[in-house]
Amino acid sequence: MAKAQGMAEHEPVGRAAADGCTASIGQMTIRPMTEEDIREVAALEAETFSMPWSKKSLMETLCQEEMLFLVAREKALLGYAGVCMSLDEGEITNVAVRENARRRGVARRLLEELTARMAEANICRLVLEVRVSNTAAMKLYESCGFAIAGTRKRFYERPVEDAWVMNKSI
Ligand SMILES: CC(C)(COP(=O)(O)OP(=O)(O)OC[C@H]1O[C@@H](n2cnc3c(N)ncnc32)[C@H](O)[C@@H]1OP(=O)(O)O)[C@@H](O)C(=O)NCCC(=O)NCCS
Repeated sequence: MAKAQGMAEHEPVGRAAADGCTASIGQMTIRPMTEEDIREVAALEAETFSMPWSKKSLMETLCQEEMLFLVAREKALLGYAGVCMSLDEGEITNVAVRENARRRGVARRLLEELTARMAEANICRLVLEVRVSNTAAMKLYESCGFAIAGTRKRFYERPVEDAWVMNKSI
């Protein structure tokens, strides 16, 4: 999932939201990622993906207005989701939930909150890629309203695999 260039014209949703706007369900809080979250996000990224984003890359997103990462926490980190905005499109770049917190609706809530914030920022369409073998993620995205738009051959490395491209209008 490549980072897009040439961002403009968006409200700084991450920074605005960091000024106090959060969404909570029961004990779970969803809010924009801050510097204090980076260590745990990087650790979960490293244990989940074969080509994880580094602490440095995650840290850089905090001052990039086109990037927004949300974290779900119950004291400890449960999961996170990231998006990169370009013109009126948002590319979902990262989604992961801790193994022992899965199937509790954490990813769905993260995507719902991300979608609401993207709509507020005048984003019209969300896009993402997912490994064709990643049934859990496919089902998640379908349940959140995404549909398959095409494939990218050999899009992934380690291991090499095709990607489904999925999108939804918001
Ligand atoms: C994919 C992932 C983010 C889902 O997180 P989650 O918090 O467990 O997902 P949710 O509990 O919000 O599930 C929402 C819906 O997604 C679908 N889903 C999630 N996990 C599933 C699984 N293992 N098998 C089948 N469907 C699944 C279901 O429709 C589910 O709704 P339901 O529980 O009411 O049936 C998580 O499994 C994960 O972190 N995987 C590793 C990282 C990854 O693959 N990220 C995506 C990269 S593109």
